[in-house]
Amino acid sequence: MKIGIPKEVCPGEKRVAATPDSIEKLKLLGFSFVIESGAGDSSDFADSTYRAVGAEIVDNAKTVWDSADIIMKVNPPMLHPELGCEEAGLLGAGKTLISFIWPAQRPDLMQTLAATKGSVLAVDAVPRITRAQKLDVLSSMANIAGYRAVIEAAYHFGRFFTGQITAAGKVPPAKVLVVGAGVAGLAAIGAANGLGAIVRASDTRPEVADQIKSLGAEFLTVDYQEDGTGTGGYAKVMSAGYLKAQEAMLARQAMEVDIIITTALIPGKPAPRLITAGMVKSMKPGSVIVDLAAAQGGNCELSENGKVVVHHGVTIIGYSDLPSRLARQSSQLYSTNLQHLIEELCPRKDGVINIDMENDVIRGTTVIKEGVITYPPPPPKTAPAAPAPQLFAAPPVAAPKAAPAAHGHGGASAPSSNQSVAVLGLVAAVIFGLIGYGAPVAFLGHFTVFVLACFIGYMVIWNVTPALHTPLMSVTNAISSIIAIGALIQISSPGVLITILAWLAVVLTAVNMLGGFWVTQRMLRMFQK
Ligand code: NAI
Repeated sequence: MKIGIPKEVCPGEKRVAATPDSIEKLKLLGFSFVIESGAGDSSDFADSTYRAVGAEIVDNAKTVWDSADIIMKVNPPMLHPELGCEEAGLLGAGKTLISFIWPAQRPDLMQTLAATKGSVLAVDAVPRITRAQKLDVLSSMANIAGYRAVIEAAYHFGRFFTGQITAAGKVPPAKVLVVGAGVAGLAAIGAANGLGAIVRASDTRPEVADQIKSLGAEFLTVDYQEDGTGTGGYAKVMSAGYLKAQEAMLARQAMEVDIIITTALIPGKPAPRLITAGMVKSMKPGSVIVDLAAAQGGNCELSENGKVVVHHGVTIIGYSDLPSRLARQSSQLYSTNLQHLIEELCPRKDGVINIDMENDVIRGTTVIKEGVITYPPPPPKTAPAAPAPQLFAAPPVAAPKAAPAAHGHGGASAPSSNQSVAVLGLVAAVIFGLIGYGAPVAFLGHFTVFVLACFIGYMVIWNVTPALHTPLMSVTNAISSIIAIGALIQISSPGVLITILAWLAVVLTAVNMLGGFWVTQRMLRMFQK
């Protein structure tokens, strides 16, 4: 199949949906590419770089839409300024569009797209389940937005972020407050800390405290007992009591800090109003607020969507296109997310996509199939994952344990699993009884220790959060190499065969030990600054 990449027409948009790298990977799956000339210019991917990986470059968007079977875009289809027609109308039967759509907010667009009899996959509808994290464009874009928010703040802030002692005098470090420590918030914490600022952060979900601290920031608590964790790892709307206590805490902080970055969000709700006009007034002149939620009404009372405004000497930045302001990086991550989506759609690697509605990820993302609106999807069968803090790359993304009775099958399977546990227990008891009856006494001692060790090991690992299983396994791998001691005892045995085997055991367990500690060290380094 042919994939088409038209130039984005949304004013100010600099991203592109495919980079030469992602094209190279998708070509291996059998896809060919047609790109509108200049599509990658704003993110520094020239036509020649696409040509170099074998993509066809054409002069206008119409040719791309007409000749491609799959259209990959960033923004939802809109009026094409040069063609003078709606992009949505360019889709047709047998074609598939992959882009941001926002189906819940854009019923009009959904109707227009459905009328073309084409299929539409909305990247903003990718289900937030663990398996789909590699195609989660919302997380990748929020990660970039958090980072860019700090850069914007630094640009408008008239001082260093880091403290310095110079011949001309002592410069104190800037104090940065990040409100909301989801994907964007954690990225902002990391970036501000990297620039040398003193960073504080607050969130209604206490579970993010460790992530905040691991990035070198202080976790600010609110003097009110309430857990803000809602369903699926997202936040919930807080009680009036909590909000009042939070307001008091933020008011104290506003007087003290130089920069506030707000990223608080509760999905499906207007942005919580956290920074009042009074708090802005209490900030030092020259302070900066970056409100990432400006497009959803703003976390700050005085922010304006898409604008930079100054109130009481405080600069308030309400840009809603932060990812596009880091276009090359955003295009790279966005195109990689799309590449993973195409891989999911093309499991046979034959250059043909199959919109398989039995596949949880594809089902959630598909909003229109062959002209039929399939949005909203049924709830995914797999437990939702909390939005992945992209900053850590893989490690802190907690793979949730299997959802307990999260859907229809869960309730029915519980009694049968209880029965099988009982049967297994009975069988084990009989086997142990027979061993106890017939085995020599010396063996029984070792066997009891072995069974207890298995039990304790199982209980220990079961209680460790799944995100830490890999580092745990690598370190236990190293420790389990205690077998080396046995081999060392045997190494000077009279039998040649035993000596050879003992040497072999020492070599292999040494590899296991060193490898285990080395992998653990590498993983721990990913958590350190
Ligand atoms: P997220 O859902 O990962 O994180 C939001 C965080 O806010 C959660 O940790 C939640 O617990 C916290 N929160 C909710 N209510 C709170 C309250 N009252 N006080 C403190 N914390 C609270 O969301 P993500 O992906 O990090 O996005 C954050 C915001 O950034 C969203 O509003 C999103 O639309 C926006 N965004 C803006 C962009 C821009 O260009 N301006 C680009 C990308 C995202």
